[in-house]
Amino acid sequence: MESLLVVNNVDKIYGKGVNTLKALDNISFTIDHGEFVGVMGPSGSGKSTLLNVLATIDAPSSGEIYIENDNIAQIKDEQLADFRRSNLGFIFQDYNLLDSLTARENIVLPLAIAKKSVSDMTEKVDEIATTFGIQSLLEKYPYQLSGGQKQRTAASRALIADPKMVFADEPTGALDSKSATDLLEKLSKLNELHETTIMMVTHDAYAASFCRRILFIQDGQLSKELIRGVHTRKQFFQLILDELAAIGGDADDVI
Ligand SMILES: Nc1ncnc2c1ncn2[C@@H]1O[C@H](COP(=O)(O)OP(=O)(O)O)[C@@H](O)[C@H]1O
Ligand SMILES: [Mg+2]
Repeated sequence: MESLLVVNNVDKIYGKGVNTLKALDNISFTIDHGEFVGVMGPSGSGKSTLLNVLATIDAPSSGEIYIENDNIAQIKDEQLADFRRSNLGFIFQDYNLLDSLTARENIVLPLAIAKKSVSDMTEKVDEIATTFGIQSLLEKYPYQLSGGQKQRTAASRALIADPKMVFADEPTGALDSKSATDLLEKLSKLNELHETTIMMVTHDAYAASFCRRILFIQDGQLSKELIRGVHTRKQFFQLILDELAAIGGDADDVI
């Protein structure tokens, strides 16, 4: 199958002169349509930088990144927002919901910006809200929602416009374990049933065990890949813990 995302020799250098830091060092990999890929690595290893560069939030210093046939490193600034809106979905650790909008309005925002018809939007919101179990919360404001409910709202917003790819950066980082499990189960179900392509950055082995493949990153370089294959989620969890122990991550990275 043709790859959805192709990353060729990507570097990202921060700063100038003596203060330069190579946050990404010659990264190359591909993600196929319908994959659920995790990115793991110690704090400061370059996970968020990688996600931001792939998600067109930040530009690489060199290298090529293709999403289908678009070389995103070459899309002009004026066109990037449009490209992101029509092709990508985002879930962040701190939800990034707009406080002055209800859950429904937050979810519908990408469709409203894309100027979809109101009836289309209502139908889509009801469908996605059902998937994430937040139908009864749609008229509430973010301050009236728990962390888990806010993240399910953010996930609904990320998926409402049927993006080609969803990028999630530590989406369970601020959630209690029950809410985290709930979100992860819903994301894996979407991935299995609708072949939604997801790339999720996490330092948490439990969250990573829901993925089908894990890329490990160390000092800005890809160091290893684990594939779940026929393993159960629990077996995969153990394999991930073993790998983290081998890498020698700090205690926080194996919880
Ligand atoms: N905007 C920035 N300017 C300068 N250095 C940065 C910036 N963002 C991240 N870094 C540095 O790049 C490295 C990788 O950071 P990051 O991608 O956030 O790691 P991770 O998400 O794995 O914790 C770290 O050393 C970090 O301090
Ligand atoms: Mg990070």
